[in-house]
Amino acid sequence: MLPIGPLMIEHRMIERMIRVMRHELLQAEEQKKIDPRFIETATDFIRAYADRCHHGKEEDLLFRELKKKKIAAEHQTVMEELIEEHKRGREVTARLMEANSRYRKGDEGALSAIFECVKTLIGFYPKHIEKEDKKFFLPIMGYFSKEEKEAMLMEGYRFDADLLHEEYQKIVKEAERTLPPKP
Ligand SMILES: [Fe+2]
Ligand SMILES: [Fe+2]
Repeated sequence: MLPIGPLMIEHRMIERMIRVMRHELLQAEEQKKIDPRFIETATDFIRAYADRCHHGKEEDLLFRELKKKKIAAEHQTVMEELIEEHKRGREVTARLMEANSRYRKGDEGALSAIFECVKTLIGFYPKHIEKEDKKFFLPIMGYFSKEEKEAMLMEGYRFDADLLHEEYQKIVKEAERTLPPKP
């Protein structure tokens, strides 16, 4: 498999969550309320899967290797756009988490910020994914040898395996905050 294979499979998973978010948003706008637990699930998915795991493999592996190559100006431009879009995605997700925590505490005014952030994300991801799938991933594979592609695929698998441990270390560390201080 090409190293972009797992990334494209992950795109399909992100699309599935975006579809659910679109559906939830429509209902929430009609009812003028939203389940903060759904927003928590959605932002956790975006933070851990779409950003850390998926954009992580793009930026820390694929783009890192691409930066070592002499690439066409059009590919350079698209790569810079994609990195910028990842940053914007992170900012919107952080805003959404913040608005959701206000809403959870009873701030009804945070609902419009939640709607706006969800709208931005469901508009952003499909376009971003389409750009990668249709205009970027396949053409840039031409810069790499068979061995380089194989090495990237393997590194991607290791990246994923390490993430599981990273994620749960974070969860345990957070949980430990409730422990009384050591004597
Ligand atoms: Fe991306
Ligand atoms: Fe992607």
